[in-house]
Amino acid sequence: MTNLNSNEPPKDLAVTTSGRPTEEVIHTAQDWAERLGVPFVLRVEGIQKLAARYDVKGLLVVSAERITYREPLTALEYFFHPSMAKVRLHNCLRGHDDPLLRAMALQAGESVLDCTLGRATDAALCAWKVGPSGRVLGLEKSRILAELTIDGLAHYVDSATRLTELLRRVEALWADYHEFLPTCADDSFDIVYFDPIFHDPLEQSQAMVPLRALADSSPLTAEAVAEARRVARRRVVIKQRKGTPLWEELGVSEVVGSPGGKIEYGVVIASGACLGQGGCRRSRSFRAE
Ligand SMILES: C[S@@+](CC[C@H](N)C(=O)[O-])C[C@H]1O[C@@H](n2cnc3c(N)ncnc32)[C@H](O)[C@@H]1O
Repeated sequence: MTNLNSNEPPKDLAVTTSGRPTEEVIHTAQDWAERLGVPFVLRVEGIQKLAARYDVKGLLVVSAERITYREPLTALEYFFHPSMAKVRLHNCLRGHDDPLLRAMALQAGESVLDCTLGRATDAALCAWKVGPSGRVLGLEKSRILAELTIDGLAHYVDSATRLTELLRRVEALWADYHEFLPTCADDSFDIVYFDPIFHDPLEQSQAMVPLRALADSSPLTAEAVAEARRVARRRVVIKQRKGTPLWEELGVSEVVGSPGGKIEYGVVIASGACLGQGGCRRSRSFRAE
């Protein structure tokens, strides 16, 4: 994995296996420990006792089925899963509207830089829309989330083969967009996308609970959006809760959502595109389902 972060090993972490592991599982766990630069510990006892014995907060538990990050003291458990990607893909294939793709006005062959990759649900939808000739690159700052998403994109097998293929097409880096964006040339991606952690979470979103615990929850700044406008050829798209006070501050010119939906997408026209159009318009676009 290429990354822009320091290669310092994650603190407070060890790698172990599920109970009664096969040789292959043990080797996989040892590879993870070596790559991350953290101890590999044999699963001779329960997770809580192992964590206490080795004085770590979390353990990556490798089994034949999946790799799970577990924190015994908080009962946190996180593993890669593409969340709502399958449902959204199914809806798109039936011709239904997806407000994110509408906000991006994405076309086949285009490129997307997803600055807040998370579980890569949105990135998978973008990969579908841009097709095999397009490109989707995701950045994730949280080390554990980045490692599990990078692994999931390479190995997760969904019952929908089409989704599995999309996941394989998403590129991912463990990187902080604050550091990555300045390294990008002007106009180097058609779209730059931000989905920052909401400070006021949606109640129903249970899938977000473990991700939130591991995620970087710093708010999106006007400076980062300005840098993204330079890097984007067409537009910067930002996801927020409906009614956010942020749109004015971030220079959003168009808001895209769906009636009754709890979230909306703000569109900021890219620096070059804005000049080309002789200014940015301000509008609100909703489409009935
Ligand atoms: C709400 S989640 C994104 C979910 C994602 N859109 C999906 O479809 O799964 C926000 C993610 O952005 C990550 N993040 C926050 N600040 C970041 C930064 N400066 N650079 C890279 N990733 C960042 C968080 O760690 C978190 O995983």
